[in-house]
Amino acid sequence: MVGVDQVLEKLATVVDPDLKKDIVSMGMIKDLELNSGDLKFTLELTTPACPFNEEIEEDVRKAIDEIDGIENFDMKVTAKVMEGRSLDADEAMATVKNVIGVASGKGGVGKSTVSLNLALALSQTGAKVGLLDADIYGPSIPLMLGMKDGAMEVEDNKLQPATFNDLKVVSFGFFAEQEHQAAIYRGPIISGILKQFLVDTNWTDLDYLIVDLPPGTGDIPLTLAQTIPITGILVVTTPQDVASNVAVKAIGMFDKLNVPILGVVENMSYFACPDCTKKHYIFGNGGAKKISEKHEIPFLGEIPLNSGIMEGSDLGKPVMMTNTESPSADAFRIAAKNVAAQCSIVAAKLQEEIQAEATTN
Ligand SMILES: Nc1ncnc2c1ncn2[C@@H]1O[C@H](COP(=O)(O)OP(=O)(O)OP(=O)(O)O)[C@@H](O)[C@H]1O
Ligand SMILES: [Mg+2]
Repeated sequence: MVGVDQVLEKLATVVDPDLKKDIVSMGMIKDLELNSGDLKFTLELTTPACPFNEEIEEDVRKAIDEIDGIENFDMKVTAKVMEGRSLDADEAMATVKNVIGVASGKGGVGKSTVSLNLALALSQTGAKVGLLDADIYGPSIPLMLGMKDGAMEVEDNKLQPATFNDLKVVSFGFFAEQEHQAAIYRGPIISGILKQFLVDTNWTDLDYLIVDLPPGTGDIPLTLAQTIPITGILVVTTPQDVASNVAVKAIGMFDKLNVPILGVVENMSYFACPDCTKKHYIFGNGGAKKISEKHEIPFLGEIPLNSGIMEGSDLGKPVMMTNTESPSADAFRIAAKNVAAQCSIVAAKLQEEIQAEATTN
């Protein structure tokens, strides 16, 4: 008769393509019950946004099929996002499993547009997501979400984020009367505001907190990197960045601070012509890929230059909400899944380090 050992041995042949580890040793098999040929368990994936979720599920079904003696098989598939940062070291934000900073070398490359649509794409997979607009001088997220009248309350000395569908949103732009004053604030005050937004906000349980940074390597990106442990940085570039090398400067700063770089997303990569299915690489092709190869950081996606994306942002109607079947939305979905996969990779490494430390102590 088939035994649990045999089932686990077979399941251990299924490997997560991102984590390059088998699903049994990753602890993805839960609540396994085997009663004379009736097999039941839960497959707990590392994120609902994993690019390989369907593939893993299919591989598991195939593996079980190959075991003689299993008559009935019942599998529940769930996802529990892994912690991609050390929560022990961050009491104030212990309910936020992953923090992802979105950075760029220069302004106007589409960080806010990418942050916002990635946050929505992740949220649409079922993950719990927050969006922190860390551009204190020029907050743009409230307008891009059409939340002109949005507000954040303070309760029990904690900031309550505004909400947009399931998304928790914090931005200096919600303090309408103070917005114009931001320009006169100097470094320490700006850093203080960001710290408060991070640690004094009632984020509740979040799988991913996306932090939309201002361009460059100034006080705000530095404060983010130094205030709390973060999962990593997503670098947004445009094809023109390759020539000017500005993206590389941002990568260099986070590298020096030992913050992992999750990867690079190229925005305004190609023109998606509405009248044909062709991609027109009007600024040249493969720029961000070159950066990713040269600096050995993953290439996580390319977003088309598309008037729908621009109008969506400018009118407060993000493409991930209003045009979910468009190629632009597809591009954001792919990038979001790749970002989630990179977070799982960072999390798995962290887990390994913790285990290694526990065995040496
Ligand atoms: N893929 C795209 N296709 C068309 N327009 C885009 C795209 N991405 C961004 N834009 C437009 O480009 C402008 C700049 O984008 P956004 O504000 O997101 O950039 P940013 O990097 O956050 O800028 P800043 O450095 O000022 O914070 C906006 O008008 C936006 O609508
Ligand atoms: Mg911006």
